[in-house]
Amino acid sequence: MADTRSSIHGQWSSRWAFILAATGSAVGLGNIWRFPYLAGENGGGAFVLVYLFFVFVVGIPIMMAEILIGRRGRQSPINTMRTLAEEEGLGRYWSLLGWMGVFAGFIILSYYSVIAGWTIAYIFRTGTGMFDNVNAELSASIFSNLISDPEKLLVWHTTFMMMTILVVARGVKSGLEKAVRFLMPALFFLLLLMVGYAMSTEKFMDGLSYLFIPDFVALAKKDLFADVFLPALGQAFFSLSLGMGAIMVYGSYLSNKSSIASTSISIALADTSVAILAGIAIFPIVFTYGIEPSGGPGLIFISLPIAFGQMPYGTVFGCLFFLLLAFAAWTSAISLLEPAVTWLVENRNINRIKATGIAGMIAWTLGVVTVLSFNHWAFSFTFAGSLKENGLFDMMDILTSNIMLPLGGLLVAIFASWLMSRKSTIDELGMGDGIIYRLWLFAVRYIAPLGVIMIFLNAIGLFKLLGLSN
Ligand code: PHE
Repeated sequence: MADTRSSIHGQWSSRWAFILAATGSAVGLGNIWRFPYLAGENGGGAFVLVYLFFVFVVGIPIMMAEILIGRRGRQSPINTMRTLAEEEGLGRYWSLLGWMGVFAGFIILSYYSVIAGWTIAYIFRTGTGMFDNVNAELSASIFSNLISDPEKLLVWHTTFMMMTILVVARGVKSGLEKAVRFLMPALFFLLLLMVGYAMSTEKFMDGLSYLFIPDFVALAKKDLFADVFLPALGQAFFSLSLGMGAIMVYGSYLSNKSSIASTSISIALADTSVAILAGIAIFPIVFTYGIEPSGGPGLIFISLPIAFGQMPYGTVFGCLFFLLLAFAAWTSAISLLEPAVTWLVENRNINRIKATGIAGMIAWTLGVVTVLSFNHWAFSFTFAGSLKENGLFDMMDILTSNIMLPLGGLLVAIFASWLMSRKSTIDELGMGDGIIYRLWLFAVRYIAPLGVIMIFLNAIGLFKLLGLSN
């Protein structure tokens, strides 16, 4: 039975350790790099409000579903899905959900590692005072020098991937718990400091209103579903590490005593506050120095160093900031690799070290596409209903965050709410059949699936085709 099952990969030492590890997974480049640049590209305040709505109404309930499934199955997401589906009298093909997660994990990790490589490069660039009193133009050219050089990108990508492999090979528990306990608060503190600096800039209020007040004039020029709702939904999944098995596999190491609901809420709150703080720190700088908010993936790498170049002790703070960001990316990358590694260990009868080496090599190789997409292969095209020009990196990012993760989340929601018996979920969530359980059930049964399906269909323009919307 479920409560006697235990994971062959070990267990967290406490509920707190799980919260730290899951927060380590959630807080990463998604909050500090991806969130601000997406908000800048997709309409500022409107995007942010829709994003917050999705985090609380869709994200938290799905996170609870993922953790409960993981803890009940206590195996890699692929095997967990198969086992639970069999237990509930359903077909084996539910393991495909685990497979989709593993694929999404490879693709995300492949580009994640390249961007994390930029943060490592910036530890040195800020630390050596390269940005002292630079203006926006110079900062942008330092950034484009970096990304136009595939050799440099490859070196940092390789370094970061090796760091990730190292930790995962040793087992996610040892080391990770300790690192996160200290690094998360430090990153938080540094972000507060950046917010403090942002408050001293001329355009602080402009930055705030850009971030929180929807601009309806700009909105009218956008396709609401393809350019605001879908990216906001994708960002909610990406930022909370949902829909690909990362949280599920971490849940499989959680003890049976811990409360899933309150744990999920803490993780989501921590994750969201980091993203919002990053936005508050970045946009005033962006406006004060005349940077284009819709500038894309380079946004934080161009804007923040200008601020470091101006503030007292900016060299130290800048260096420390990118160091902590690299650490935050590290604790996320680890969770991207973990689902594939656990499956290899369970099904291919190889040890963790070898499994991590194999999985890491696959992700590394795929990362070369991203490395080249910023220089030799820097062509762009339009796709996925959006009018924006996108390159290869954007394509992998959109395919995973906007399509695979929400689809994974949708299936998790359907599985936990419609297919698992009420008894199993009540048993696993451990909070009885009260109001909170019913709210959760309603969210995963109706709100999350309908929300995701509506946004998908609208974004691909089906309703337009049918003449049901304009
Ligand atoms: N949540 C991580 C971040 O915001 C990225 C991630 C996505 C990690 C999916 C695991 C799974 O940086």
